[in-house]
Amino acid sequence: MLNQLQRDILNLKKEKNAIILAHNYQKKEIQEIADFKGDSLELCMKASEIHDRDIVVFCGVDFMAETAYILNPDKKILIPDRGAECPMAHMLSAEDVRKARKRYPDAAVVLYVNTLAEAKAEADILCTSANAVKIVESLEEDLILFGPDRNLAWYVQQHTDKRIIPIPENGYCYVHKMFTVADVAAKRDEYPDAELLIHPECNPEVQELADHILSTGGMLRRVLESDRKRFIIGTEVDMTARLDLESDKETIPLLAEAICENMKLHTLEKVKNSLINEEFTVTVPDDVAERARRAVERMIEVSR
Ligand code: 13P
Ligand code: SF4
Repeated sequence: MLNQLQRDILNLKKEKNAIILAHNYQKKEIQEIADFKGDSLELCMKASEIHDRDIVVFCGVDFMAETAYILNPDKKILIPDRGAECPMAHMLSAEDVRKARKRYPDAAVVLYVNTLAEAKAEADILCTSANAVKIVESLEEDLILFGPDRNLAWYVQQHTDKRIIPIPENGYCYVHKMFTVADVAAKRDEYPDAELLIHPECNPEVQELADHILSTGGMLRRVLESDRKRFIIGTEVDMTARLDLESDKETIPLLAEAICENMKLHTLEKVKNSLINEEFTVTVPDDVAERARRAVERMIEVSR
C-alpha cells in the first residue's frame, strides 16, 4: 500500500510526463514508486530507450544521471539531491586518463561507468560490473587501461589473458571496501546453508570466498533462478530491499553498516520537490557529451 507522499509523486509524475529511474541501492520507499529499477547497465540501457517522456528523475548518483543526460540531451534530467555523488567516480580525472594514454600509447582505455563525463569522454569504451569482462574481450588491444575501481580491475584480470593496468593505481568504493574475510566467516557460520553473492567492487580476498561474483542486477537474477532459500548479500545494504520486493527468499546483508550515504541522500520529499520545481537539472557540456556518448553507445552495442 503506497502512502500519501508516494501517491502525490505518482500523480505529479503523470502530470509532468516524467519517468523515475532508481538504482538498486535506493531506499525501499523510493524503489516502490520508481518506473524502472536496476543496476548501472540496466539503467543505461533504459536511459537509451526513453522516447516518450519529457522529464527523467534519476534516483541514483551523479555519474548515472550524467549518463542519462549524455544519452538524452534533449530531455530534462533531474536529480532529487544535488549532493548525491559517487566518491569513486571522482577518483579519476580526464587529465589522469590522458596521462595514462601517453604512457601506454598501445593500450585501449576501458572506463567503469562510475566516472564523470569528462573522463568518459577520454575512454574508448565504458563498462559496468555486469559486462566488464565481455567488454574487455571485445577489444583488439591486449593491453587495457582500466579504471577507476582497482577491485573490479582485479576481477577482470582473473577472467582474461589480456594485461589490465588499473588507473588510478588505487581507486576504490568506500562501501565495498568495508567487507572483510572475518565478516564472511561470521555470516557463513550463522547461515551455513546460504549462498554468498559478492559484488566485484569488493576486495580480492573477499571475492575469493564468494559462491558467485555478480553485479546487483546479476544478484537479482541469481536469487530468482536459484533453488536456495537463503542468500548473504555482499554489497550495499538496500540491495536486500530490491531483492525483497521481487522475491520471497531470505536475503541477509553481509554487513549492516555497508551503506552508501551518497545514494541515501534521496528521499520521497526530495523526489516530490524535484517534480514540482523541476530541479536539480543535470547537464554536460555539448562537446564532452558528444565524445562521452561514443564510449557509452559502444558499450551498449557490445552488451546487446
Ligand atoms: P551495479 O552496476 O552492480 O548496480 O553497481 C553500481 C555501483 O555503484 C556499485 O557500487
Ligand atoms: Fe559509488 Fe560505492 Fe556508492 Fe556505488 S556504492 S555509488 S561505487 S560510493
